[in-house]
Amino acid sequence: MQPLTGFRDFLPVACAERNYIFAKWREVARRYGFVEYDGPLLEELDLYKKKSGDEIVRQLYEFVDKGERAVALRPEMTPTLARIIAANHRNFRKPLKWFSIPQVFRYERPQRGRLREHFQLNCDIIGEPSAEADAELIALAIDVVRGFGFSANDFVVRISDREFWTELLKIEAVPSERWEDILQTIDKSEREPRTKTRERLGGLAGPVFEILEKGGESAKLNRIIDSLRARGLSDFATVDVGIVRGLAYYTGVVFEVFDRAGKFRAIAGGGRYDQLIAQLSDNAVSLPALGFAIGDVVLGEMIHENPSALGELEASVRSDRSIEIYGVIAKEERRAVALAVIQQLRDQGYRLDYPMSPTKVPRQFQTAEQLGAQTAILFGDEWPNVAVKKLASGEQQLVPHEELVAHLVAHR
Ligand code: HAM
Repeated sequence: MQPLTGFRDFLPVACAERNYIFAKWREVARRYGFVEYDGPLLEELDLYKKKSGDEIVRQLYEFVDKGERAVALRPEMTPTLARIIAANHRNFRKPLKWFSIPQVFRYERPQRGRLREHFQLNCDIIGEPSAEADAELIALAIDVVRGFGFSANDFVVRISDREFWTELLKIEAVPSERWEDILQTIDKSEREPRTKTRERLGGLAGPVFEILEKGGESAKLNRIIDSLRARGLSDFATVDVGIVRGLAYYTGVVFEVFDRAGKFRAIAGGGRYDQLIAQLSDNAVSLPALGFAIGDVVLGEMIHENPSALGELEASVRSDRSIEIYGVIAKEERRAVALAVIQQLRDQGYRLDYPMSPTKVPRQFQTAEQLGAQTAILFGDEWPNVAVKKLASGEQQLVPHEELVAHLVAHR
């Protein structure tokens, strides 16, 4: 039997790759002072019906549980975070900088860069209205991608402000119930034939195309770019009104990260959602908020196509999977003393393996190399000495067993 379409098994190499990605995500988020949180995989269906927007609602894994509750697997983390913040914000000093690495589920058509489950790093800032927060978040998004060895030649953050579009909709007196549909159409326009966009926008097509061609500028976006420039990161960012974002709750500055060559789907995306927490708490709590998520699928594809990023990933996978020492049991009657020494070394934090059943010595050395061990320790005729062999050079030394731990620690 195979996993379901769009779902992945993580065999050890894939799992080590995932560990590498998660470790880098955590490291960079912590550099920016973000702390980790988590939430449930399953939420009330209403949480998404109310707030994520039609596109995501169409993609929900939803069902009725045994208690007759309508529930859904989380398709994204932001509604969960907004719910948690609405309920708990009083216990925390603002602004909050929180991150999480959820697995999320969307019933999409599986294709390159899009599966039915993926992991995302989510980073959100709660309770900070200033444009510096938008810049801080975008700088973090840049540094997360840079952390994998990519440069300004490889990727770019396209920054926009939904207000360019909502201002137009106000001027054109478009009824608010049509806004989401129109914003989605503009969001998709880059990937759709012009005639299709024109048809869907009707009378709005003219002014929309005009804004797309002319581009936009605002004091807010200038402040963000200035802040990125002060950090030496402005080469990684550009203002681009074509970015609207597909999710319904965004209210202001939005951004997406793309590879420069335009080969892949969006690597990451996010923006401001200043009303969401209020909406989820029936206006009891109003807090400005902004965040982004970067997924593991497109990022993984990009790493695999970039030789230097791949080199780093492979080195990490090798060390994630390898042991340091292999205990060669050359004589079965030494098994008990070998286990005593092995236990001591494991207590010291060494990664160590040994054969669990009698095995020919050359075979044990082969296994040691396959497992990536640098050192073999041999329990055989030399006892009470142990032969310590460096596998790369073949160099061997006899060490009295009671000095072995000290010897290995000294030569680590
Ligand atoms: P999103 O743009 O829907 O945003 O997803 C963020 C990233 O997740 C995308 O750029 C993409 O790399 C990845 N992604 C999305 N769908 C899939 C899929 N089906 N397969 C593989 N990867 C995928 C959000 O989810 C927002 N909640 C982000 C956010 C956080 N906004 C504020 N805070």
